[in-house]
Amino acid sequence: MRLGMIGTGYVGLISGACLADFGHHVICVDKQAAKIEALSRGEIPIYEPGLNDLVRKNVEEARLAFTTEVAEAVRGAEAVFIAVGTPSRRGDGHADLSYVYEAAREIAAALKGFTVVITKSTVPVGTGDEVQRIIAEARPGGEAVVVSNPEFLREGAAIHDFKHPDRIVVGLDDERARKVVAEIYRPLSLSQVPILYTDRRTAELTKYAANAFLATKITFINEIADLCEKVGADVNEVARGMGLDNRIGSKFLHAGPGFGGSCFPKDVRALIKTAQDHEIPLRVLEAVTAVNDTRKRAMARKVSAMFAGGLRGKTVAVLGLSFKPNTDDTREAPSLALITALQDMGARVRAFDPAGMEQAKTMLNDVAYAESVYDCADGADALVIATEWEQFRALDLERLHDLMACPVIVDLRNIYRPEEMSRYGFAYACVGRSPATFAEDTSLGRLASLARMRTLAPNL
Ligand SMILES: NC(=O)c1ccc[n+]([C@@H]2O[C@H](COP(=O)([O-])OP(=O)(O)OC[C@H]3O[C@@H](n4cnc5c(N)ncnc54)[C@H](O)[C@@H]3O)[C@@H](O)[C@H]2O)c1
Repeated sequence: MRLGMIGTGYVGLISGACLADFGHHVICVDKQAAKIEALSRGEIPIYEPGLNDLVRKNVEEARLAFTTEVAEAVRGAEAVFIAVGTPSRRGDGHADLSYVYEAAREIAAALKGFTVVITKSTVPVGTGDEVQRIIAEARPGGEAVVVSNPEFLREGAAIHDFKHPDRIVVGLDDERARKVVAEIYRPLSLSQVPILYTDRRTAELTKYAANAFLATKITFINEIADLCEKVGADVNEVARGMGLDNRIGSKFLHAGPGFGGSCFPKDVRALIKTAQDHEIPLRVLEAVTAVNDTRKRAMARKVSAMFAGGLRGKTVAVLGLSFKPNTDDTREAPSLALITALQDMGARVRAFDPAGMEQAKTMLNDVAYAESVYDCADGADALVIATEWEQFRALDLERLHDLMACPVIVDLRNIYRPEEMSRYGFAYACVGRSPATFAEDTSLGRLASLARMRTLAPNL
């Protein structure tokens, strides 16, 4: 099949490359000329495991091409995907649909013959109706059918997710369009991936409901974590005890610095706004965003609490900038609010991330970027683990202890065991595991002061 993909970002590029790998011929469009030039030179503009090879293979086999011209991708295509961004609209939190509508107008201008226009972008319920209207207005009598096919892939595991999805949701009410969509995903029917056909509005809302539910799960366990710290319980164990219940499930029950990324925060905000417009306030989600928004800065207070005199003049090393491991995406990453809060408290911040530093540089000021974990930790007064990259899970603790001016670690992802940290002589704080549950005969405060003393008398 011939397919067009409008928008060559995280979703468009990965979907385009995977669809080409299914055997379709895909032309990916982006209006950022620099991105298309880079792709045409064989350079992949984002970090996503496996993507380089997948793109190279499908370009070489002439199934995948890139252009800045929408018309080139629409001409001769049986289906055209819209995979442009839908960020939060400045000021009010609604989804900004200007890119979607612009893409719809550009597609309409290039349409010839029957074409299925498939919205993959996450869009509020009713957007498909508007896209259909825009196209009909620009092409009266044109034969375009608009379908909703929200994407559920996770950055960092995106190729796997696209090729082995839990389900595919398709919203449409046109039999010809249904046949086209079924043909696009036919390679997945061999592995019996469930395809849920529904009406367009239901499909649009399903995507938001799924993301909002996952964000709620994270926020729920984060609040339980705060309670664990107060009452001397261990949130990891609580989450395990909950997650083993099949009705609950263990995923998205990891306490941490709050959810971030390019989807959850904006999608929860947009869903709340849609619901308010329909006079159906979603109170649970309103609480979720409020709790999550304050949490990221609260993590900076956790760091500050390790020092009796606060953070002024201290150097804090932050490991992890991307919102999760295996991606360079730092959009709304918890690290951003955390770092700004640390700076507001007077700390100097140094940071290291295996893939996210270039993006973070466009979003943060006055941060010194390190070449490695150990370069980052060298001479630092505290080390904060903000993202659980694999390479942060087995740090050389002895070397770290020697390098740091003050052996203080704040592990916002709970990837270390408190006993291990105290064995290496670190003052250690984490999320939802109270000092009382792990400090031997000492309190965290005493460990911190011990750490401080070590800087003055290293042999202590
Ligand atoms: N990133 C994810 O993990 C993910 C997962 C599921 C769904 N989504 C949804 O998919 C959509 C895209 O997200 P993303 O992260 O890929 O965004 P992105 O910002 O990475 O990419 C969007 C791309 O579209 C391009 N673009 C915008 N208007 C265009 C136009 N008229 N013609 C051609 N190109 C145009 C932009 O230049 C940009 O490169 C969003 O609605 C998002 O919510 C994202």
